[in-house]
Amino acid sequence: GRGPDHPVISAAPLRKPFSKVTKEDLSFFRNLLPGRTITDPDLIRSSNIDWLRTVHGNSEILLRPKTTEEVSEILRHCNKRNLAVCPQGGNTGLVGGSVPVFDEIILSTSLMNQVITFDNISGILTCQAGCVLEKLSHFLEERDFIMPLDLGAKGSCQIGGNVSTNAGGLRLLRYGSLRGTVLGLEVVLADGRVLNCLATLRKDNTGYDLKQLFIGAEGTLGVITAVSILCPHKPKSLNVAFLGCSSFQHLLETFQCCRGMLGEILSAFEFLDASCMKLLEKHLKLSNPITESPFYIVLETAGSNAAHDEEKLHKFLEAVMTSSLVIDGTALWSLRERVTEALTHDGYTYKYDISLPVEKIYDLVQDMRRHLGDKAKNVVGYGHVGDGNLHLNITSPSKDPRLLAAIEPYVYEWTSQWKGSISAEHGLGLKKRNYIHYSKHSEVVALMGNIKALLDPKGILNPYKTLPDNMHR
Ligand code: FAD
Ligand code: MLT
Ligand code: ZN
Repeated sequence: GRGPDHPVISAAPLRKPFSKVTKEDLSFFRNLLPGRTITDPDLIRSSNIDWLRTVHGNSEILLRPKTTEEVSEILRHCNKRNLAVCPQGGNTGLVGGSVPVFDEIILSTSLMNQVITFDNISGILTCQAGCVLEKLSHFLEERDFIMPLDLGAKGSCQIGGNVSTNAGGLRLLRYGSLRGTVLGLEVVLADGRVLNCLATLRKDNTGYDLKQLFIGAEGTLGVITAVSILCPHKPKSLNVAFLGCSSFQHLLETFQCCRGMLGEILSAFEFLDASCMKLLEKHLKLSNPITESPFYIVLETAGSNAAHDEEKLHKFLEAVMTSSLVIDGTALWSLRERVTEALTHDGYTYKYDISLPVEKIYDLVQDMRRHLGDKAKNVVGYGHVGDGNLHLNITSPSKDPRLLAAIEPYVYEWTSQWKGSISAEHGLGLKKRNYIHYSKHSEVVALMGNIKALLDPKGILNPYKTLPDNMHR
């Protein structure tokens, strides 16, 4: 059963009957976390607003634990007292999952930022959940390794947040999803129990793989406190190429040819359309380094022998015969990575993160342009071609309910008709929770509800998120 069988409740959720923080609660927290129980509204403000500045809560208390034991004490107390909690990492999430909706206590992992162990033979890193992705990357690069994931938010996002959203990003094509590279997790359950699944083994088939439940659970099943992750060796040779394409069909052919000719050294294949390029030029003053084209590709090779990689890359570029540039990667990568930022300067952004058969992904953008006509300011497409993941973004001078009504549920129906996913990598959070039925059958959603009830019977962990409204207790 999809779509029409399940009337979508699009209204804001109602506050559930959780307790309010009392003086006694505050003194409990202050005693447990002296100097790290924040109640100054000026210091809490940025934790109440999401990165996109589209949703905000009214929490009056921000807790900053440093250890797993402290997280356990916090949750044990909150569960006993029926106090709701919003786990927060770097607060770069794009679906409104990382900020409270009402007065939920914000549990920030920002001070849980220690590397626990790194084994330079196996490449297995174990660290606390609040380590910032870019800091981990630097730590590893000094040791000749890299993180298996990379994303535009690397300077702020934390590994615990990445795991909780099962973030994809720019390297998934090469190193696969976190469901494969995360080897172990330590999680604190709603009642304070510490679940130690912090294995550092490649292989372990002793029963159910419980850590998978918490990967992509968006803080609704437990708080991740530590992560073990398998890290690849740092490639000796990296090349980035920026290519123009005359049509999306041409882009797909280039992708096919690239897989054939670059094979094992291909490490990323990303695209942006001409509308994205205009926004980069207008709002960020970045310039297009090649001939103007309807589509642009950022592709990366990562290998162990520079001469071999360059030869392959040049043969490939000769074969596809299109306008292209191969220079130092950082400048080219920012044209792809900073599209998100350019969009925020263009107005209120309606963001859609869709998985579809790759040959269909740009049809959705073109169809949406026709469908919306002049109701939208800009309709743009970019994303992870190699993973069949489109980022469809629609801007408007300001928040516009009429525009939103024209986009949703149209975009979800379109996606479900082609058996796509309405959230490829960002999660459901607050914004997409009631649309889950477009991508999951009702029996599956019901079982998700059972698991939530088993692990968090009072529903204190990130209420109003991920599960549809009728399923929150
Ligand atoms: P937050 O935003 O703080 O939280 C995200 C969710 O996880 C929330 O539901 C929160 O409650 C929960 N959570 C956080 N920490 C924990 C924890 N320790 N335990 C339990 N729950 C927790 N995503 C992609 O997949 N691919 C991309 O390429 C990508 N690029 C991005 C680029 C930009 C510029 C931005 C702003 C975002 C991008 N994202 C991307 C979105 C992505 O979800 C996040 O950047 C990242 O994974 C979230 O990490 P965070 O630490 O900021 O988590
Ligand atoms: C990206 O791939 O750039 C990110 O997922 C962020 C976005 O969708 O804007
Ligand atoms: Zn993305």
